Amino acid sequence: MTMTHRPLTILVTAGPTREPIDPVRFISNRSTGAMGLAIVKAASRRGHKVILISGHLPLPAPKTVRPVYVETARQMRSAVLEHFAGADIVIMAAAVSDYRPAAPKKGKIKKEAGVLNLQLVKNPDILAGLGERKQNKILVGFALETENLYKNALKKLKEKNLDIIVANQLSARQNVFGSNKTSVLILDKDGGKKYFNNVSKGEVARELIVKVELSL
Ligand code: CTP
Repeated sequence: MTMTHRPLTILVTAGPTREPIDPVRFISNRSTGAMGLAIVKAASRRGHKVILISGHLPLPAPKTVRPVYVETARQMRSAVLEHFAGADIVIMAAAVSDYRPAAPKKGKIKKEAGVLNLQLVKNPDILAGLGERKQNKILVGFALETENLYKNALKKLKEKNLDIIVANQLSARQNVFGSNKTSVLILDKDGGKKYFNNVSKGEVARELIVKVELSL
């Protein structure tokens, strides 16, 4: 492989976080981490050093990394902040839970008559926090939208102070979770806009890594 770029340290987050309700149950989402792992592979192949911080994954991580596994959004934020200073690029592909149970129970919740109300509080937005302290790093975020893909992704790009955003349209026709294929819109802070229709996650990952190399 000929290197036309300098090797970078790329911090990648992947997979879903889990927010405990009690010792047996949690709130999570359908993310499998496939996109994050594709990014790890593409970055390693291009000679970069990768730090992977991940929620629970049903798939094995590539042999090129020793993942730092975390459970909750707050644990993911601590791990990301610990490694932030040493990274040139941060790619937040993780599906972070926006909310967590306000008061997880120490013992298992027993069923009782009537409804059970679960109160949720907001988790910190890890990526927005990085946007506030980013210095000369390149920040890449993801967005998952069911409507107004372009408008919502552009809003997140600006509000979180990102350099690049990869926006997925969630539709009945294409199930992005666990699938190897995806359709994404990649936007950058300079107005760049490119749509990829029904391509492999590996292809999106390669495009993204080349794009971040060119951004530095
Ligand atoms: N993200 C994060 N911390 C959170 C929530 C999200 O760092 N608490 C990151 C994700 O890793 C992703 C990006 O922010 O890179 C967008 O996440 P998304 O859930 O699509 O957007 P939100 O900003 O949470 O907005 P909404 O859920 O209202 O669409």
